[in-house]
Amino acid sequence: MDRPMPLIEPMPPAADGVMPWDGPVSDTVAAIGAARAACGDTFVIDSGRDRYLFLFSPRGLQEFYAVPEQTASKGVADWKMLIRKLPQELFEGRRTLPHELFGRSDTQAYLEALEDAISRHLDGLSPGDEVEIFDFTRRLGHSMGLASWAGREMLDSPRIEELVAALDALDGAEAFVAPDRMREVARSKKACEYEAMAEAEEIISESVAARASPGDDLLGTIIERWTGETDQRLSGVARDVILVHLSSMSNMFAALGWTLVHLVQHPGVLARVRAAAGADRDLASRCVLESTRIGQRSIMLRAVLAPVTVDDGSRAYEVSPGATLATFLPLTNLSGGPGLDRYDPDRWRGRSLVSPAGLPAESVTTFGHGVHACPARPFSVAAMVRVVERLFGDYDLEPRFADPVPRPGQIGGVARAAGPCVVELRARQ
Ligand code: HEM
Repeated sequence: MDRPMPLIEPMPPAADGVMPWDGPVSDTVAAIGAARAACGDTFVIDSGRDRYLFLFSPRGLQEFYAVPEQTASKGVADWKMLIRKLPQELFEGRRTLPHELFGRSDTQAYLEALEDAISRHLDGLSPGDEVEIFDFTRRLGHSMGLASWAGREMLDSPRIEELVAALDALDGAEAFVAPDRMREVARSKKACEYEAMAEAEEIISESVAARASPGDDLLGTIIERWTGETDQRLSGVARDVILVHLSSMSNMFAALGWTLVHLVQHPGVLARVRAAAGADRDLASRCVLESTRIGQRSIMLRAVLAPVTVDDGSRAYEVSPGATLATFLPLTNLSGGPGLDRYDPDRWRGRSLVSPAGLPAESVTTFGHGVHACPARPFSVAAMVRVVERLFGDYDLEPRFADPVPRPGQIGGVARAAGPCVVELRARQ
């Protein structure tokens, strides 16, 4: 028998519709936008066996980001999403979480690894090449990530292409980039994903086994977590690496893709970035934030574990365990204030959005707020800024695209483009 939906008291307006992993939704932004237009800033969607309480008012968003993990869990909500795509075994027994890696004060090790990965990709380019931006940034994202947490030696591995193919097949982000495909994944019992996980594990284990000592890079930190372990050591390290890597591939390469697209579309901003390159990275960092803001397609979810009161500024709702709190970034990031539909890196001062003035911080989200804010933000911004400086330092990118738009079925992470975004490389004059 179906269990009853968790209670919400008083019950907010209920919108028609389903979430895309439960039924067909051709355009997620349009569908949830229509629900909000019909019901207001606080509403419920009952979909499959779950009840989602969507919050969009300023106070509702503040409460959403402030709710403690033990009461309404991001970890559980993310797991419920990712488990539609990834094998359960990948989550079991993990010893390294990305927070611990990026909590290290020493960023030098990963910056050198990033430079190495970028150099190798740029060495493979020549004037006249036609490059699909998101394909390029995806490959670069793999190299930058693997060089950082699978060890720089992975860049020289004869099996790196095989590893990248396996990681692309495993791709946890597909759960929200192509949610409509998850029924097919379930029907296959994740056969491709199990095969890909085994292959990735084998290649990473082989490389880790060749290390004489843990090393003082991020991989070394992961290896140390498994000190004393014999049977499970290599596969444990490999799975830690895989999970960190899959997290990194949710957002970074796509945010970098939009950063490049927007700079191609805004030559005035690009000229200023080039003039400042190396000396002042602030403008390039702001370009990264601005493109991330515009590209965000994240649905933010918190699985309610204990009764919680959520006030949206007009009413306080008693929400029972089993419900899921939700908000959807494209509906706030692009319309939470006047002018937010325009690209303008100067709306940022450092890490803060200052234009339009007076917006509550939670109205616009790039890397998150509060306890769950992205631990990899400094890493990601540094990586993206270096790619911008080095790629545009060497080349002009001649657009062969018109006006790229996000993939309409996506509901999570930073947007993937709906179609190819090709540029032709020209040696910089
Ligand atoms: C442009 C790149 C990135 C963007 C825009 C981004 C965005 C975000 C956002 C918005 C959140 C908060 C989600 C929420 O509150 O529900 C988050 C959390 C997180 N991100 Fe990122 N991220 C990026 C890169 C990365 C990378 C490279 C990694 C790992 C290698 C990573 C790992 C994580 C983890 C583990 C969390 C969860 C933190 C927690 O629950 O406490 N992110 N990220």
